[in-house]
Amino acid sequence: MKALVTGATSGIGSAIAKRLWQDGMEVIATGRREKRLSELIAEVGGSRITAYTADLSLPEAAESLCETTGPIDILVNNAGGAFGLEPAQRASASDWSEMIKINVEAVALLTRAYLPGMVERGSGLVINIGSVAGEFPYPGGNVYGAAKAFVRQFSLNLKADLAGTGVRITDIEPGMVGGTEFSAVRFKGDLEKAAAVYQGMNPLTPEDVAEVVSFVAALPSRVNINTISMMPSDQGFGPFFVSRQ
Ligand SMILES: NC(=O)c1ccc[n+]([C@@H]2O[C@H](COP(=O)([O-])OP(=O)(O)OC[C@H]3O[C@@H](n4cnc5c(N)ncnc54)[C@H](OP(=O)(O)O)[C@@H]3O)[C@@H](O)[C@H]2O)c1
Repeated sequence: MKALVTGATSGIGSAIAKRLWQDGMEVIATGRREKRLSELIAEVGGSRITAYTADLSLPEAAESLCETTGPIDILVNNAGGAFGLEPAQRASASDWSEMIKINVEAVALLTRAYLPGMVERGSGLVINIGSVAGEFPYPGGNVYGAAKAFVRQFSLNLKADLAGTGVRITDIEPGMVGGTEFSAVRFKGDLEKAAAVYQGMNPLTPEDVAEVVSFVAALPSRVNINTISMMPSDQGFGPFFVSRQ
């Protein structure tokens, strides 16, 4: 089995790449940071793993990566992130645009690039890393949450198109995951602000998400898990907000 993991240079993607490698798969890792990819290869020992740098926010990256890697059995669309936590009226338009490129467009185009081959071979699995932010709104979540809602609905619509083709599709939607660069990226390198997000609580780990990816990938081909929503025990749902005079 050959699995391509996007965003494998950090956090959840790195854990997924390692986990699928441990499961005996041939892993193709990608991200923009070449040094991180080399470190990942060194960490697992070099065999059964290859890496290609790619900036998936560029529209031509998907087709080009697909040509480079050749056929794969599993596509893990994990690369993504949130940029900023400002209310919509103060958010940066370029942050919104970048979030749409990496969380929406890249997921769609990469999936589109690999699907014809999977359908032709009558087997394949696409695992998208969505987020509970795609289902539950929170202040400042604006475009990030909307992008993850796209990932969820895109996954379900893919399922509708792919029924009977042998190609399966799953959206895994984690809540707060610590030990990644997610919050540091969201707060543009402000590590203090990023650390405060997880203060006094026990977030999911990247390995927890990787465990679920491994579980989904190991199921018999007759089983399609549509969505999995997972949260830390310490996380819950916000109450409705009421603005009072
Ligand atoms: N952490 C959480 O609480 C949480 C919760 C729910 C869902 N998620 C989702 O889980 C996924 C992984 O996030 P994470 O927490 O592991 O964050 P992370 O540590 O910041 O990892 C993000 C990954 O995406 C890659 N990436 C970002 N922009 C890219 C681009 N333009 N081209 C190619 N790769 C790009 C990064 O690689 P390079 O910088 O090397 O390109 C990095 O490997 C994301 O989709 C995120 O939305 C995270």
